[in-house]
Amino acid sequence: MSLTPVGILISGSGSNMVALAEAMQAGTAPGKPVIVISNNPSAAGLEKARALGVETAVIEHRSFKGDRAAFDQAVDGALRKAGAGIVACAGFMRIMTPVLTDAWSGRMLNIHPSLLPSFPGLDTHTRALEAGVAIHGCTVHEVTADLDSGSILGQAVVPVMGGDTAETLAARVLAREHLLYPRVLAAFLQDPDAARRNPIALFPDP
Ligand code: GAR
Repeated sequence: MSLTPVGILISGSGSNMVALAEAMQAGTAPGKPVIVISNNPSAAGLEKARALGVETAVIEHRSFKGDRAAFDQAVDGALRKAGAGIVACAGFMRIMTPVLTDAWSGRMLNIHPSLLPSFPGLDTHTRALEAGVAIHGCTVHEVTADLDSGSILGQAVVPVMGGDTAETLAARVLAREHLLYPRVLAAFLQDPDAARRNPIALFPDP
């Protein structure tokens, strides 16, 4: 099977990016990480990508002085130059304009730290605790122009425990993100339509 070139967008620690790149490099997902792009020059994920032998690029959103479309144009250009066929957002903390979402429509995935459609946006773990939910988790979905609302490709359920803080809950969710995202990416690379028809559900170990 041919390997699809995958571009990965990050802003921070890049642990999901590592999970995706390692799955591709181990052959469990039929893709090849061709570039990791960060809007944040001090993202720890940049060094992790280099350590995995993946090309990196920094495109600082600050230098675009609030012109989101121009920033997105630059990101799109870097993805194309690297030959990306699909894009995985992995902790990429920028709101995208249609310049990016239209260009990559049907070819861009994101991981979000909640069970969408609950808790789109930021501070998902704090908001889940405040809402008193018994279950929380993460979602991999397609990216559209509307924030955190593209079709769901996979979800992992994480129970909320008594005594959880936003930090303890975030850590448990993140561990499941690292299992879910590579599995969804693998399914999507193999057959996007089948992946859309059969979203992956991961439940806690009994
Ligand atoms: C992850 O929890 C991811 O779900 C979240 O940021 C974290 C990035 O961690 N993404 C969002 O909140 C997107 N709105 P990582 O850099 O270690 O992968």
